[in-house]
Amino acid sequence: MIDHLGGDYLRQALESDVRAGFTSTPKWLPPKWFYDAAGSELFARITRLAEYYPTRCELEILRRRAVDVAALSRADTLVELGSGTSEKTVLLLDALAAAGTLRAYVPVDVDAVTLEAAAERLAVRYRGLDVRPVRADFERHLALLPRTGRRLVAFLGGTIGNLTPVAREVFLKELRATMRPGDTLLLGADLVKDPARLVAAYDDPRGVTAAFNRNVLRVINRELDAAFEPEAFEHVALYDEDDEWIEMRLRAARPMEVPIRALGLTAAFGAGEELRTEISAKFRREGLLGELSRAGFAVARWYTDSGGDFALTLAAVPIVNS
Ligand code: SAH
Ligand code: AVI
Repeated sequence: MIDHLGGDYLRQALESDVRAGFTSTPKWLPPKWFYDAAGSELFARITRLAEYYPTRCELEILRRRAVDVAALSRADTLVELGSGTSEKTVLLLDALAAAGTLRAYVPVDVDAVTLEAAAERLAVRYRGLDVRPVRADFERHLALLPRTGRRLVAFLGGTIGNLTPVAREVFLKELRATMRPGDTLLLGADLVKDPARLVAAYDDPRGVTAAFNRNVLRVINRELDAAFEPEAFEHVALYDEDDEWIEMRLRAARPMEVPIRALGLTAAFGAGEELRTEISAKFRREGLLGELSRAGFAVARWYTDSGGDFALTLAAVPIVNS
């Protein structure tokens, strides 16, 4: 595995995010810190919940369209950002293999455990495939990813929605700058819909999403010698209709002073005070296609599932960028 998060990198990044986020008003943390091995496992459980429709919708689209994506992209290298367990990816790999172009798969993720396990599973399943896992932060290390061959960059699951609008704009421009004519992007995005369904997808009655949300406190306890009591924080999921995004928060059930020893910092929470842990933006066709074209992509296909809940966009790098 190539590791761009080794040495002190990850630790320093977490320190700096926790320091910045806990000294802001309101308090916030970037969602990438959910994903240690336990967080990835909780996310995998979320994808199997009845209320969490995005994974099933994206699978439905891939089942119908992966052959089309393979034919249009003619990629020999599949680079997948935020690949996680790579479960849906097999549909793309099968289609690229059947088209006869596939040579390499580059899964990219922050969680080393899940990344290695997925890479091993796929290397066994696809004998002869060059599987090259990269542990990296897709907001920092796009320029360091392998650039050889004709690449299809897949960014599935709607993870793009976990970036703030400004971070999303920067991300798309940086990604576009690393891509060459002939490369393609396959982007998964969750679509605006009935708020009740959205909130239900992020607040399941079994409490799996709540456990996933609280996991970020366990990560901080372990990595930064902090003393959060995860159960003293209530899971909050709400839909912001103006911004068209879900927000996940952790609400302090009572006043607390929590030492974060590695930082020499005490995080003080008033009763009911909230820490924002994630946004999950929901998109409209015009908005997303506009963002892609402003970043310099030419949109080739817009695919949705039969219910119109989720979209996959295939975008190309034009030969001459207008
Ligand atoms: N693509 C999978 C997993 C989505 S969950 C799916 O569609 O089901 C989001 C994944 O992105 C997790 O595996 C998480 O570890 C990874 N991730 C989150 N932020 C990241 C970042 N900044 N850089 C790299 N990977 C990240
Ligand atoms: C990874 N990402 C697209 C998920 C989402 O839906 O925003 C993370 C998640 N958060 C709560 N449930 C799932």
